[in-house]
Amino acid sequence: MDDGSLRIETPRLRLRQWRDADYAPFAALNADAEVMRYFPAPLTRAESDAMADRCRALIAGRGWGPWAVERKLDGVFVGFVGLHEPAAALPFSPCVEVAWRLARDAWGSGLATEAARAALAYGFGTLGLDEIVSFTTLDNRRSRAVMERLGMREDALGFEHPALPPGHPLRSHCLYRLPRATWRAGAA
Ligand SMILES: CC(C)(COP(=O)(O)OP(=O)(O)OC[C@H]1O[C@@H](n2cnc3c(N)ncnc32)[C@H](O)[C@@H]1OP(=O)(O)O)[C@@H](O)C(=O)NCCC(=O)NCCS
Repeated sequence: MDDGSLRIETPRLRLRQWRDADYAPFAALNADAEVMRYFPAPLTRAESDAMADRCRALIAGRGWGPWAVERKLDGVFVGFVGLHEPAAALPFSPCVEVAWRLARDAWGSGLATEAARAALAYGFGTLGLDEIVSFTTLDNRRSRAVMERLGMREDALGFEHPALPPGHPLRSHCLYRLPRATWRAGAA
């Protein structure tokens, strides 16, 4: 391991600490309007770099977080997938969420689901979490489909994201939950 930190392997992917070389492809995907369709706006280079810095610092600090995801076949950085404690005070805080963002050309072949399964295994198996959640704006069908493939169940109560102003078209969110017992049953 080049940086001494944990590396998680799946059949097609490596989840690992961020490297300087990830910053440019991360900025490119964060500038892609299709990738950022369900976020308030694409990110500038500076905003993208700051986000990569935060992910890197979280992983350096405690060994887990939103991992950089690299395709094993060619070593290409495709985005991030991992576990995160949301900074915003959400109605169901404290919580740990599983989250993902991949470059457009990495969509459509199950990579997000594959990486997220490994992140869930780390969260339940290594960290011993009792529950992992995920949430997104109501219209983000692709993200909701990942949650459903992972066996997460939609909570009856959605929520209004406090970081967005009332009336913002992305403010209404759905919440998906995966209790440890359900994960165990699904993983068996
Ligand atoms: C959300 C996001 C990660 C989902 O990507 P995705 O490629 O649709 O999801 P998966 O990697 O699970 O792949 C599923 C697709 O691959 C197909 N697939 C092929 N092989 C597969 C396999 N082995 N396992 C699972 N799915 C497979 C599925 O049929 C599905 O196809 P579809 O495109 O027809 O729906 C991606 O759209 C993204 O990065 N969006 C922008 C960021 C974002 O919105 N993040 C979430 C904010 S909360």
